[in-house]
Amino acid sequence: MTTHFPKNGSTWVDLKQQLEATKADDYAWKRGRLPLYVYWRDEELYQVARDAYSLFFIENGLGKLAFPSVQKLEREVIGMVLHLLQADEAAGGSFTAGGTESIFQAVKTARDHARAERPGIGRPRIVVPQSAHPAFNKASHYLNMDVVRIPLGADFRADVAAMERAVDDDTIMIVGSAPAYPHGVFDPIEDLARLAMAKGVWLHVDACVGGLLAPFVRRLGYDIPPFDFAVNGVTSISADLHKYGFAAKGASLILFHDAGLQKYQRFKFSDWPRGTYATDTFLGTRPAGPVASAWAVINYLGEEGYLNIARTIMATRAKFAEGIAAILGLEVIEPSDLSFLLYRSVDPELDINAIAEKMAERGWFVGRCTEPSAIHLMFNPVHATIVDEYLEDLASVVSHVRRSGRVGVLDENTY
Ligand SMILES: Cc1ncc(COP(=O)(O)O)c(C=O)c1O
Repeated sequence: MTTHFPKNGSTWVDLKQQLEATKADDYAWKRGRLPLYVYWRDEELYQVARDAYSLFFIENGLGKLAFPSVQKLEREVIGMVLHLLQADEAAGGSFTAGGTESIFQAVKTARDHARAERPGIGRPRIVVPQSAHPAFNKASHYLNMDVVRIPLGADFRADVAAMERAVDDDTIMIVGSAPAYPHGVFDPIEDLARLAMAKGVWLHVDACVGGLLAPFVRRLGYDIPPFDFAVNGVTSISADLHKYGFAAKGASLILFHDAGLQKYQRFKFSDWPRGTYATDTFLGTRPAGPVASAWAVINYLGEEGYLNIARTIMATRAKFAEGIAAILGLEVIEPSDLSFLLYRSVDPELDINAIAEKMAERGWFVGRCTEPSAIHLMFNPVHATIVDEYLEDLASVVSHVRRSGRVGVLDENTY
């Protein structure tokens, strides 16, 4: 693994060329070949996100006293998203590096809150639907907690009655997603909120995907179930700015219906010779670029920009659904909400894994759902430009697989 520093430096022109060349084998995300990882509208929006990031490239979010600028931008972003998610004046939140860190903060805060409020509690556990993001297990692993995953209902949504049966005296949190990544469906947040209130436990809503998209899709008239702070009983929400917020990577929010809960997320330490060190979230040194990027993108797009993005995404989804349903042997899986679409084979002669492999050979990065075995798409505006190309490739791949009788391998390693 070891290699050495070059003896002498190179020119930036040369290095830039090398960096660009390194990308040669990456999937062509600007041409819509990725159904995840990248959220791309156009060069214009990219430039805003990138230039704002560059302006705050050096600043450090750890330095609250040194950089009131970062604090101000952060406060404004948190305030705007709290409003979008129908929080009231008592609410609060923190900027984090991503969905995983937001979820980690929710779990840690709920744990420390429960320890303070429920003396005698055993090893804390959280009860989540089977579709909840692995970040809940990751957080619980680090925090010495247990996670109980409950099988989904037939509609891929959380089975609230089964979750209720799993809540015991050591349960501190239940979780619903808005929407969950594997099938792209919203869990019944209102029912989960009723359960949380009845049992006196914390309800976290994972809106990492939906937080910055679902409110706008709802305003366009689509049926989006209640999932945010308008639902009484929702304690915290994670919402990613680096997904449908279109900010640079490294931008998410953990939001609390009551800012008073934030005292349980803080870490404070004085037992060393350099005074008190205190942070609200996991990171110490914290990039300010994502904060500036999120602030700039939100103000650049405004509600109108996000509504246009939402319109494009939903129209694109509808075109894909129609095109895929028209290909003999394929079926669009229902339900899926918001920007997701999953499809599978309903023809025993047509192996969905072989289709996935052939699509990948044609340069499409293929997302997989393993239960049920299906191809998984999550749209962003760039996909509006490749609908026909995708559908043509898919039709041709399907007829090839049918002719050849090819059988593929279910590659579970989807990341
Ligand atoms: C529903 C959901 N929650 C959490 C996450 C984790 O977000 P991140 O990858 O930013 O840590 C994801 C990522 O796709 C997600 O889809």
